[in-house]
Amino acid sequence: MPSFTVVTTAQRYEAIVETGALARLSEFLPSPAAKVFVVTTEDVWQLHGSTVASALSGRSWHRLLFPGGEARKRLSSVEALAEEMVSLGGDRSSIVVAFGGGIVNDLGGFLAAIFMRGVPVVQVPTTLLAQVDAAVGGKTGANLTSGKNLVGAFHQPLVVLTDPSVLHTLPEREYRAGLFEVIKHGIIASEPLFRLMQLERPSVLARDPAAMQQMIAESVRIKSEVVSADEKEGGLRRILNFGHTVGHAFEAETSYTRFLHGEAVGLGMKAAAHLSRLTGRLDAPTCQDILDVVDAYGPFPTLDGIQTENLFARLVNDKKSILGRVHFVLATRIGATEVAAGLAPELIREAIASTLR
Ligand SMILES: NC(=O)c1ccc[n+]([C@@H]2O[C@H](COP(=O)([O-])OP(=O)(O)OC[C@H]3O[C@@H](n4cnc5c(N)ncnc54)[C@H](O)[C@@H]3O)[C@@H](O)[C@H]2O)c1
Ligand SMILES: [Zn+2]
Repeated sequence: MPSFTVVTTAQRYEAIVETGALARLSEFLPSPAAKVFVVTTEDVWQLHGSTVASALSGRSWHRLLFPGGEARKRLSSVEALAEEMVSLGGDRSSIVVAFGGGIVNDLGGFLAAIFMRGVPVVQVPTTLLAQVDAAVGGKTGANLTSGKNLVGAFHQPLVVLTDPSVLHTLPEREYRAGLFEVIKHGIIASEPLFRLMQLERPSVLARDPAAMQQMIAESVRIKSEVVSADEKEGGLRRILNFGHTVGHAFEAETSYTRFLHGEAVGLGMKAAAHLSRLTGRLDAPTCQDILDVVDAYGPFPTLDGIQTENLFARLVNDKKSILGRVHFVLATRIGATEVAAGLAPELIREAIASTLR
């Protein structure tokens, strides 16, 4: 069973990537007497709930429905779920299973982090983005009116159970959006993963089980290693932000309505590749390889109306900027990066302009 160990100060746990893992959920839940609360959304439950229900048969468990969507990823939703948990007899020995996309993983994880000052959570991600990114690492939280993910907690899961077969029902655009985070993992840490995305595009897009297993497992391995080395994003974990500096600017500039997060990261990676080349870190052919691979997993929503100057202005306000200095994760080759700050504004503008062309 392909499994990757995450070691943090709070917890040591396994991130399992295996077809059929969902059916084995019960094996990973301690104490058979503990009540299990499955946080999920209606759509995911309709598609895959029966597998979870049969996996939990014989146990005491409840389903907690969450309406879904970024607009509902709020403290008020966590409060409502916590109230429901109490009314269903939840206590300090209960276990939360966060079964859904990244929103459910973040919100369910946060619920577990604060319910009765903390109960265990099992992360069961069902989107590609959540499987390769959100479910591993223990970051949980909710949005405020003032911005995304501005409240939250680190709460490492008991186990992360990833079953690639649930991705067959994922809408095409959501699937492609997740692929950009896979490409990111290749660029920052794994040339074989990058080559898989470059050379096996038809199998990847056809959701061939072998291709999915390979790309998800390799992404989870990388994320697990990075998180183990740097649990709270002090240094190394920043490499996971490759493509995210300009990507966040694309999202914010279009009020989070035009691009899915992964799509914005795809565009941000193009800008990062240009900037890596313009600052002399990356050779032109490798830069072109990155641009080509990203474009091969498009199409992207229109870039109409987006101005270089407006994106540039947003970088300075990014929450990841430290003391007003914008930090960029730049590629030095496929599989290696470095963090750079204080880059010439003209080069940043040129990298953005090249992305918009
Ligand atoms: N904690 C972290 O480290 C981390 C990392 C990356 C992203 N995130 C968070 O993840 C969220 C985005 O996650 P997402 O992209 O998964 O979006 P999402 O959770 O909204 O899921 C996308 C849509 O797909 C549906 N869906 C989920 N699984 C499905 C399946 N198997 N078949 C069919 N439909 C399915 C969902 O109900 C939803 O409508 C953001 O809130 C972001 O902040 C967190
Ligand atoms: Zn991301």
